[in-house]
Order: sequence, then structure tokens, then C-alpha cells
Amino acid sequence: MARPICFWLQYFAFLMFIGPIVSYALPRPPRPPQSPQDPSYLKFVSNATEFPSEDYYDYIIVGGGTAGCPLAATLSHSYKVLVLERGGVPHGETNLMSQEGFLATLMEADTYNSPAQSFTSEDGVENARGRVLGGSSAINAGFYSRADDDFYKKSGVNWDLRVVNQSYEWVERAIVFRPELKNWQSAVRDGLLEAGVDPYIGFSLDHSVGTKIGGSTFDSTGKRYSAADLLNYARPFNIKVAVYANVERILLATSSPYMGSRLSAIGVVYRDHTGRYHHAIVREHGEVILSAGAIGSPQLLLLSGIGPRPYLSSWGIPVAHHLPFVGQFLFDNPRSGVSIVAPIPLEHSLIQVVGITESGAYIEAASNVIPFISPARSIFIWTPSSPLYLTVATLMEKIIGPLSSGSLRLASTDVRVNPIVRFNYFSNPVDLQRCVNGTRKIGDILRSRSMEDFKVRNWFGGHDFRFVGPALPVDQADNHLMEDFCRRTVSTIWHYHGGCVVGKVVDGDFRVFGIDALRIVDGSTFGVSPGTNPQATLLMLGRYVGLKIIRERTRYR
Ligand SMILES: Cc1cc2nc3c(=O)[nH]c(=O)nc-3n(C[C@H](O)[C@H](O)[C@H](O)COP(=O)(O)OP(=O)(O)OC[C@H]3O[C@@H](n4cnc5c(N)ncnc54)[C@H](O)[C@@H]3O)c2cc1C
Ligand SMILES: *[C@@H]1O[C@H](CO)[C@@H](O)[C@H](O)[C@H]1NC(C)=O
Ligand SMILES: *[C@@H]1O[C@H](CO)[C@@H](O)[C@H](O)[C@H]1NC(C)=O
Ligand SMILES: *[C@@H]1O[C@H](CO)[C@@H](O)[C@H](O)[C@H]1NC(C)=O
Repeated sequence: MARPICFWLQYFAFLMFIGPIVSYALPRPPRPPQSPQDPSYLKFVSNATEFPSEDYYDYIIVGGGTAGCPLAATLSHSYKVLVLERGGVPHGETNLMSQEGFLATLMEADTYNSPAQSFTSEDGVENARGRVLGGSSAINAGFYSRADDDFYKKSGVNWDLRVVNQSYEWVERAIVFRPELKNWQSAVRDGLLEAGVDPYIGFSLDHSVGTKIGGSTFDSTGKRYSAADLLNYARPFNIKVAVYANVERILLATSSPYMGSRLSAIGVVYRDHTGRYHHAIVREHGEVILSAGAIGSPQLLLLSGIGPRPYLSSWGIPVAHHLPFVGQFLFDNPRSGVSIVAPIPLEHSLIQVVGITESGAYIEAASNVIPFISPARSIFIWTPSSPLYLTVATLMEKIIGPLSSGSLRLASTDVRVNPIVRFNYFSNPVDLQRCVNGTRKIGDILRSRSMEDFKVRNWFGGHDFRFVGPALPVDQADNHLMEDFCRRTVSTIWHYHGGCVVGKVVDGDFRVFGIDALRIVDGSTFGVSPGTNPQATLLMLGRYVGLKIIRERTRYR
């Protein structure tokens, strides 16, 4: 590949990156608790191979991810809980546990074993999903910001906002920190204000229009906290977590004829690392809860015969329950933006500052992190023998919504194979207009005084940005050029959601329509991406539904 930009910048960037790239780690078996720093949850986590071939629980939670872990920890205070997670434990994995490891974790992503599972949508955009205890919160960029008010009003859920707030606070006490801004993030904050994204809100976890510093799940030393750490809240004797446990199917049975012979979830079938089958069965009044994420939950419903009848029949899957919208209304917020090579040293920063505009887009920034550069592939200059990195600063925008939706189809009846997904970015013209608006805002920021330090001297003695990858169209008033920029440079900010949306597949209590004792609690239930970034809402959701279930059962006992 051609050597871009000047050698010295590469050399400098190389020095900045030598740390994070040398330590490569593959999943290892969970270690027994050793040092006092080991999280207490390790006491109840074991390899699925060590589980009996049949066992009984009140709640079986499929997926130990962002929503699944807080849900399990909460339910364990009153009931016997099993968590089944297909990946391993993040603790002890150098790359997973640090902010600097974000890049390496995504670079190591493969389709079968790594903690970040890579996939490419039919739209041609590379993407990733978590496959480790903590789920995608254990591989993400750590930005933490609560949902917008519209989300509560329009999500089809009758939220109890007092419990919502208590649930956020429960999460935040354990795993959310205030980030310290360095040069690039500070400049972006100032640039946003100069570009009219005001007022300045300062540090806040709440969503409101203006420019703010959000929370982070990385602490001041760069150590990552994730949903897995919320398992420390669990009641240890009431919970078991099986890792390397691949759930293949939900077990369904027709309940007593007195109930009008309704279908009910009675357990799940999972396989351990050696291929051995295990059955986990729910006790009376118990439930199976899917928290396998926007890709995993619709996939499991389909594999269990819950979905559109003609589609299931085309795969030869016996139809247990016809539910037409399983796998439909799958969304991904398009991301676009620009990256520049800066002439001054930059910190390594993931997202810390966000501009919440009133024109349909959120503006975020990162520095020295290759996967944020868009489009990622075209400038990806790395070989194991000669790692070359640039000191790069990125400004990006994510549109709200989106309105464009796609769908998910099975690629195989083997649950380990990623389904085929399509997001249909910008198929709705409003999404394209929002992207144009956000991209124009990026143009305004680039023209602000705060960005002067990041320009380099050009041949004619002036100062200009040195773009890596696409530059913004010079004429930003030209709608066609701007739309073309959005379409050409589209990438993902990894906030995909939907597939089992509230009102389509689950009701306002997250129960699957037409099936008893089966709920879905994760991002697959969202019809829009909450707030600027979804993890806060998903962590809250797990705690919230756990509290709700406990209250319901206490009331009706
Ligand atoms: C690279 C990246 C960066 C991101 N950055 C941010 C950010 O900075 N801020 C933010 O707010 N959001 C961010 N996000 C988005 C956010 O992390 C996700 O939206 C969120 O974590 C999804 O939560 P979930 O509970 O729906 O699913 P997940 O957290 O993905 O949990 C699903 C779990 O289910 C398991 N599972 C799936 N299928 C099975 C099965 N058959 N058997 C057993 N287990 C199964 C998976 O292994 C996984 O652990 C990012 C995401 C990624 C990937
Ligand atoms: C799980 O345990 C089995 C049996 O002890 C072992 O063979 C396997 O390597 C372990 N797998 C992982 C990924 O920890
Ligand atoms: C929840 O918290 C938000 C933001 O901090 C606050 O504005 C709101 O009034 C709170 N709602 C309730 C019901 O406590
Ligand atoms: C784009 O921005 C303009 C000007 O702020 C606004 O009027 C318009 O509604 C925005 N478009 C969308 C789709 O939000």
C-alpha cells in the first residue's frame, strides 16, 4: 500500500502506538479468584463444561451482556438465576481492560473466537458485536450518557421515571467516571460552542441540547469497567454464570389446558466448549429472558421457531409461533465524519465530548484511534511486521433515529454463525438530510478558531487541514455534494438496535407476544437509539426490568 503523508508523522505516531499494539490476548479460561483486586463475581462464574446436563432456575438469562448482567444481579436478590454467556471473562485480558486496548480488540475481531466478533452488513459496512461477559460494554468506546426525554415518551413502554433514575444511579455509582479532557477533546468542545451548539452544559450525564462532557466507563487510569462489574452487586449464593455457553434454542411447551393452551418458555438448550448439550429448565413462575443483543435475540427466536411462518418454513424450522416482525425493524445509525493528521501531539481519546444539535445529529470526537476514521478500510495501514500509525484526530456525527430500517436473516441454523444483516442506510431521505446537517456542523467546527492549531503549513505558506480519507466537499451549500459525501463515507458507530422491537415483537413489559414466561431485555427491543449513545440506557434497562419483575411477583404472590 502507498505510504501516506510524511514519514516523520508516521514515525511519531508509531511511537505513540507501540504500547497498545504489542500485547495481544486471546480468550483464556476463567481464572480462579487469586488477588484481592479480582472482582468478586469470579466466585460464581465457571466454564459451561462444569455445569450439570440438567438444572433448574427461576430466571435463565441468555447473554451476559450490557443489559443481561445488571438484570441478573438484580433478580438474584430474590430468585435463583442462571446467566449463559457464549464468550469468556474480560478480567485479566489486557486489551479488554484498558482504553488503549480498544483498537487492538477491534483489530483482533474475527468471526469465531475473539471477544469482539466482526461482521459486515450487506450494506458493505464493517461492524462488531461483543462476545464476552459484559457484552458490547466490554469492547466499546466507554462514552456514557442517559436517554433523551423523547425516548421515554415514544418507546411504547410505560416508564416509571423514578425507578429509571434510581436504576441509572445504581449503575453510575459502580462503573461511571468523569473524564479529563486533553487537547483534542478540549478543542472540540470549544469548536462546538463557536459553531453555535450551545449552551455549554459542562459535565453532565443527562441529555439536553448544547455541548457537554459526558461520563465514561473508563476510570482516570484508563481502566475499563463494564456491565460485568455490575455482577458484583449480585447475591452470590443465588446466581451462577456459565461462560463459553452457547444457547442454541429456547424450549417451548404448551401450558395447562386451563390457560387456553398457551405456549410457554420452559427452558433453554445450550452447548459447552466441548460440544456437550445442557438443559436449563425454569421453575414454576420463572422465565427465560433473552439479553443476547440486537443480533443475538432475533436470531435465537428464529432458531426456536418463533418468527414469520413462511420464512421459518423455508429453512425447515418447525414453526412454534408465527410472529411476523422478528428480525424486522433492524436499525443502525450511520456515522460519517472527517479525520485529520495533526501537527501537534494528541492524547489517545475515545469519545468524551458531545454536541447535541437541534438539527438531527450528534457530534462526537476521538483522537489517535484508527477505527473511528471513516471509512476505516481505505486508510488501514497495518502489517504485523511494520505497524504504521498516524496521529489522527476525528470529528464524527451520528444521526438521531434512524428512520431507515433493515432486517436480519439466518445464514445458518448453527447459532455460532452470524446472521446476515442489512441496515439500508439512508433509504429514508430524512436520515440523509440529518446527515447533511451534521456534516455541515462539522464544517462549521473546522472553520472555528479552536481548530487553527490542528492545521498544517501547505506548499504556499498557508495553513490547511491534512485529511486522512475523505475531505468535506469544499462547497458545503451544495446539497447534492453533501448527500453524496454521506452516502460515500457511511460507516457505523456500532449503535445498531431493533429486531424485536416493542410493539412489534414484545409488549410494553418486554414480554414476547403470544408466549408466556419469555421476555427480551436488550437493544433488540429499541425502535430508536436512546440519547447520544445507548449503553447508559441499556445498563439502566437491565436494572429497571429486574426491579419491576421482583415488584410484580411480590405484589401478586
Ligand atoms: C466497538 C463498539 C463501540 C461502542 N461504543 C459505545 C460508546 O462509547 N457508548 C455507548 O453508549 N455505546 C457504545 N456502543 C454500543 C453499546 O455498547 C451497545 O449498544 C450495547 O452494549 C448493546 O447492549 P445489549 O445488552 O443489547 O447487547 P450486548 O451487550 O452485545 O450483549 C449481548 C450478549 O449476549 C451474548 N450472546 C449472544 N448470543 C448468545 C447465545 N446464543 N448464547 C449465549 N450468549 C449469547 C453475547 O456474547 C453478548 O455478551 C459501542 C458498541 C461497539 C461494538
Ligand atoms: C472449558 O473447560 C474444558 C474442560 O475443563 C476445557 O477443555 C476447555 O478448554 C475450557 N474452555 C475454555 C475456553 O475455557
Ligand atoms: C430523573 O432525573 C432527571 C435528570 O437528572 C430529572 O430531570 C428528573 O426530574 C428525574 N425524574 C424523577 C421522576 O425523579
Ligand atoms: C436540518 O437543519 C435545518 C436547519 O437547522 C432544519 O430546519 C431541518 O429541520 C433539519 N433537518 C432535519 C431532517 O432534521
